[in-house]
Amino acid sequence: MPRYSITTFGCQMNVHDSERMHDVLRRAGYTEAGGPEEADVLVLNTCSVREKAEQKLRSEVGRLARWKRERADRVVVVAGCVAQQEGERLLKQMRAIDVVVGPDNIPELPGLLGDLALGGLPVARTVFDLDAPRFLVASPSPSTRGAPTAFVTIMKGCDERCSFCIVPYTRGPERYRASDEIVAEIAALVAAGTREITLLGQTVNSYRDPLGALPRAPGASADDPDESEFAALLRRIAADVPGLARLRYTSPHPRHLTPSLVLAHAELAVLPRHVHMPVQSGSDRVLRRMIRRYTRAEYVARTRALVEAVPGLTLSTDIIVGFPGETEDDFAATLSLVREVGFKGLFGFKYSRRPHTPALKLPDDVAEDVKGARLARLFEESEALLAAHLSGLVGTTQEVLVEGRDKERGAGRERGAGGALWSGRTGRHEIAHIEGAGELDLLGEVVEVSIARANKHSLQAELTEAARAAARQQPRGGADAGRPARRSLPVVAAEGG
Ligand code: SAH
Ligand code: F3S
Repeated sequence: MPRYSITTFGCQMNVHDSERMHDVLRRAGYTEAGGPEEADVLVLNTCSVREKAEQKLRSEVGRLARWKRERADRVVVVAGCVAQQEGERLLKQMRAIDVVVGPDNIPELPGLLGDLALGGLPVARTVFDLDAPRFLVASPSPSTRGAPTAFVTIMKGCDERCSFCIVPYTRGPERYRASDEIVAEIAALVAAGTREITLLGQTVNSYRDPLGALPRAPGASADDPDESEFAALLRRIAADVPGLARLRYTSPHPRHLTPSLVLAHAELAVLPRHVHMPVQSGSDRVLRRMIRRYTRAEYVARTRALVEAVPGLTLSTDIIVGFPGETEDDFAATLSLVREVGFKGLFGFKYSRRPHTPALKLPDDVAEDVKGARLARLFEESEALLAAHLSGLVGTTQEVLVEGRDKERGAGRERGAGGALWSGRTGRHEIAHIEGAGELDLLGEVVEVSIARANKHSLQAELTEAARAAARQQPRGGADAGRPARRSLPVVAAEGG
């Protein structure tokens, strides 16, 4: 039986697509190899959102050429956004590549590999499924069944065309999934033991039900062009899947943060008290050139409404520094926005020119070292905000959804003297390492902890006495019965803070 291995670069959408590829390949009779060295088929699921990410693919394929030479029947597949962006060109540029497959063509992968095995030539399939969009659902594998957290795609593509962004080109126009299908997938995951769902989409809150099956959400305006059916979808999921503990979503666009969504946050206990809301810049001049379709004041007003509706809600964001024409004053406006909103998490990026983007016609005129210096100042600001926030939580009690054992999550560096065994996330998405659980199996449990210390990016927590007593009473059929560990996909993390 041929063995495969998948290496994932980039965002959660890619992590999710890799899960689909695992499923498609397993169904076609492939088995997962222990690592890339043992594989017959190696899949690189690529990212092209910044130039650095794209370069990673090129250096990886360079290394793989030698791997391929060791055995004639080894196959290299390139999937994801670079595949979609470059298509056939990749086959010409890099001889080591056998198959190029776009995000919408994942179901065709076994067929393409089969043709190749029969002597077919290297091939590229990068066609968007515009007429009948497919949203593949991976059947739970032994390693993902009942995992505490799972992603569910609700839409794909993006119609925004922010001037810096290649995603509309690599992922195509917006296509939405039927709400019935979304609810059914979530219900099945929750029935199998999943506690937290993250809804995925490029502009996840622009969602509209293609079947028109959702009633208008409270607070939704009939004539606001930014109104979507996202709040209605959240309400339907909350009502139809009562066993769900947490319902997250990523990434929303500020344009669709309308009163109906604010009201949903105020009323639905399942929505956590944290939202990631990319802002990109704090300067109106830059926002306009980025074609973000909101002003700084609108962003502030909309997020403020959310925080007022849900006291204690925290926000995190994405910011680009060094966009063409960004002056010191523009950047100062970004820093002041970071302070004004008080982001508790921030992914910062140096602007990178991407093919097929409208901003290509603007000169990339902020020097590399200026971009670097701005990014460093930005992180300094956001780290200080995060540090103050985390230390403010010391002594409080929080509810943590336990996602795995600490050593699996690579958090050993921050391990306290007592040895933190489990880790998970609070309702606001802060990472918490839990000490004092002894032999208790906490995987997938929402437990009460008291916060003992603040680390740089996470919290050190202890199980409360009440939580310990409750966990002891949980009937359990052995440590791992029915609750396998979360699959650890090899993810090459994006830069960011
Ligand atoms: N809506 C998407 C955004 C994809 S891109 C989502 O769901 O996450 C993720 C982030 O990368 C963007 O928010 C932006 O901050 C950054 N980014 C996108 N294009 C970029 C570019 N050309 N240069 C630098 N950063 C970029
Ligand atoms: Fe990219 Fe803007 Fe869409 S950042 S994914 S074009 S919302």
